[in-house]
Amino acid sequence: MVSLKVQKSAACAWFAMVLLTVAASATHARHHFHRQKKLVEHNARQVMRLKERGPQPRVVGVAPALQLKSSEMVEPWLTVLHRCDEVACCAFSQMPGQRCLPKQERVTLYFRAIDIASKTWRIIQHEFFNHTECACRAVEHGP
Ligand SMILES: *[C@@H]1O[C@H](CO)[C@@H](O)[C@H](O)[C@H]1NC(C)=O
Repeated sequence: MVSLKVQKSAACAWFAMVLLTVAASATHARHHFHRQKKLVEHNARQVMRLKERGPQPRVVGVAPALQLKSSEMVEPWLTVLHRCDEVACCAFSQMPGQRCLPKQERVTLYFRAIDIASKTWRIIQHEFFNHTECACRAVEHGP
């Protein structure tokens, strides 16, 4: 009778341990699966991004390029120009000596320069380079 009780409680303890182990490994498996899913998502996102190797929109502050008087403010003071992404452009190429060469065109943009001292304004135009295509090419005589 006593030994049966001992056996029973030993079986209970063993069963509890099995349950705990199963629960722990299930948690571990779930955790592992979650991390694996995150990894696959991250990888896919980056591959998609690398496929977008064309010129990317970049917000550029225009004031440094314009000849403004110190009393002048400019509007808009930001513009969006497209730029080739050096890293993404040659991302699929493992060849040394390759560079991302942009095809660029001049674009004329117009701005208002407001003179806050004299309360007058003028329109100024300025040519910027805008990248329209990017290509990863071997550079023959590079530095
Ligand atoms: C710059 O080039 C892109 C194409 O790469 C074009 O979509 C965009 O409109 C151009 N921006 C300007 C200011 O002309």
